[in-house]
Amino acid sequence: MRALALVPLVLFAGFSLAQEPAAQEPAAGAAPAKAAVDFSKQVAPLLMQRCIECHGPKEQKGDLRLDSREAVFPKGAEDSWTVTPGKPDESELIHRIGLPLSDEDIMPNKGEPLTKAQQELLRQWVAEGAHWDDAGDKAIAEALAAQVLPKITFDLPEVDAAQQAAIDKAIAALREKGAVVQQVAADTRAVDVNFSLLRDKVGDAELAMCEPLAPVLVWLNVSRTAVTDAGIKHLAGFAQLRRLHAANTAISDAGFAKLAGLAKLEYVNAYGTGLSDAGLLGLAGLPHLKQVYAWQSKVTADGKKALLARLPGVQVDLGDYVEERLAAAQKEISEREARNKPVNEMCPVLDKPIDAALFVEYEGRRIAFCCAKCKAAFQKDPKKYLEKLPK
Ligand code: HEC
Repeated sequence: MRALALVPLVLFAGFSLAQEPAAQEPAAGAAPAKAAVDFSKQVAPLLMQRCIECHGPKEQKGDLRLDSREAVFPKGAEDSWTVTPGKPDESELIHRIGLPLSDEDIMPNKGEPLTKAQQELLRQWVAEGAHWDDAGDKAIAEALAAQVLPKITFDLPEVDAAQQAAIDKAIAALREKGAVVQQVAADTRAVDVNFSLLRDKVGDAELAMCEPLAPVLVWLNVSRTAVTDAGIKHLAGFAQLRRLHAANTAISDAGFAKLAGLAKLEYVNAYGTGLSDAGLLGLAGLPHLKQVYAWQSKVTADGKKALLARLPGVQVDLGDYVEERLAAAQKEISEREARNKPVNEMCPVLDKPIDAALFVEYEGRRIAFCCAKCKAAFQKDPKKYLEKLPK
């Protein structure tokens, strides 16, 4: 009973098993003195929490997957196993998790290191034979499935055969022009059209070519193209449009005003356009608007305030934080440079020009010397030279 009661302690209070008398390694062949590790309940959740994001279905860093028995113990490739059942000291995985934080090979290689209790748990699991049964695979598969973000769904209107033919024809023609046209996801008819790579080869005429796509077009990118205010009228029927990227175009308030009827529009990127406070306020009638990106447009903080008064939930990004962050980064760099700069230009010992690479840190200041000898002399008796240094 006592050994069983330990398990929650280990998991929740972070106690090290090693501190418990019951946790001594069992002598070979002896009955284990502590509860055997339950892979599904103890190891799988730990792998999920700390490893599988980099060693699972999405990424296989270091060519390693830790999300199924087959991946960890591939048949016929025993030499490459990162876990050697029964032999924690020969297991790369156990070695990695036990490294000091200063070692770049430590796993996980970001965030906190595993606690002593977690390390001990994995070590015990390996020592006990690294059992990984079907229930273990299932536990991980279920946890992964639960992690998947809700599917993007689009409630698109039905189209008849004639409309579908028109859609297919328009897609072919757009692709012919070099536009990137793709389904947003495998299980939807929703379409994403991206003109931005074509730059000024695309203008209002190409936008007109999109019109048959109105029942399925959900994302459109005309950034950096030559599309004008006049061309935006072709978007008026795009009742399914959710995202519009129009950054770095000549579109101004007159163009953005034509978006007013787009009931599903959620996101407008107007970076580097002529959008002004008046134009921004014109978007207040969009019932689903969530975000407007307006850095380097004509929108001001007052314009943002006015829109928020009408649509409190909307994010209006004026990019001010970008400048703030740049300024902060710049400040840090200059501070670091200042810290790394010697306070003196002349050697306090011989009064000759310094070599900035020959320095000591003394009472929070960097003091440089003309030669190694002077540096040594200073280190021997700093007080003797201090008055020669700038205050
Ligand atoms: C943020 C990403 C990340 C996380 C989380 C992570 N790893 Fe890694 N892992 C890496 C990268 C990158 C490499 C390859 C570079 C290297 O070998 O250090 C690697 C390599 C390894 C290797 C060596 C593979 C080989 O055979 O060369 C092992 C073993 C390993 N990780 C185990 C783990 C374990 C166990 C966890 C969880 C406790 C974990 N990793 C969590 C990124 C990660």
